[in-house]
Amino acid sequence: MGYLYQVSRNDPAVTFGWPASGRERDRLESELLALLDPALRRAAELAERPPLAAAPLLADFLALYASRPLAQNKGGSGLNDSLWLYLMARLIDPALIVESGTWRGQSAWLLRQACPAARVVTFDVCVPDEGRCETAGVFYHLKDWMTEPVTAVPGERALVFFDDHISHAQRLAEAAARGFRLALFDDNFAARHLHATGAPPVPTLAMLLDSATPAGAVIEWQRNGKIYRYDDSVERRQAARDLVADHLTLPELASVTHHPPGSGMTLVRLQGQPSTGM
Ligand SMILES: C[S@@+](CC[C@H](N)C(=O)[O-])C[C@H]1O[C@@H](n2cnc3c(N)ncnc32)[C@H](O)[C@@H]1O
Repeated sequence: MGYLYQVSRNDPAVTFGWPASGRERDRLESELLALLDPALRRAAELAERPPLAAAPLLADFLALYASRPLAQNKGGSGLNDSLWLYLMARLIDPALIVESGTWRGQSAWLLRQACPAARVVTFDVCVPDEGRCETAGVFYHLKDWMTEPVTAVPGERALVFFDDHISHAQRLAEAAARGFRLALFDDNFAARHLHATGAPPVPTLAMLLDSATPAGAVIEWQRNGKIYRYDDSVERRQAARDLVADHLTLPELASVTHHPPGSGMTLVRLQGQPSTGM
């Protein structure tokens, strides 16, 4: 027996899966807004920014995402993480955005679209074999961000986005030393979920800030025929607690969108004087 549905038309503008009939689309989008709105309110508090309604931002994002340069971004942000990245960029509206982990260039493109007036600087240590797309107005560096004098200027909003699988403990200290008060961390896996990704940025924020795991514990996980071991350190845990004023792990959207799960993107306000210039 054949399928009980058929292709009703071809549309080259269709670049991602989404309901196409109004009733189903409205239903899915209202379920999504029920997750986005409270998280956006909480993120606005954390970032000391005026709250924004999610509905118009979601509509903007979906129109933009349809025109992204790479239909497939395997190894980089998919729809769920891209949506949070876009929302955080729009909410914070920084004058400077630094990204560590360019990969194929899609997230830098998205940041540029979200904040056309911002200076967007992206770092990677290599270009993937698949190549990358470069967006006008984005500054690309093939090096670690610590080799370039990029600092947040007091009184100007700035955001640093770490999507490079480097230890969150290290990146947190670097962001603080360079005057950033707001940082977004991808791949924030809890100790019990480290097996879910290759090269997790251990110790992650979730590990550093988890009071249920005794400081100094040994943490092991298995993946692809290997057992990995991390020896937790009391000093690293304390250093992270000293640097983090507030944090918010953005809700997982996969249960609503049924796109592949994101990676626990987490917004952090670092200790120090606010530099938001509100
Ligand atoms: C998960 S990918 C980034 C995905 C990208 N942000 C996106 O959403 O499309 C991680 C990237 O981090 C890069 N990376 C590894 N070490 C790095 C470092 N020290 N500085 C900057 N990028 C680094 C890798 O080469 C890889 O391209």
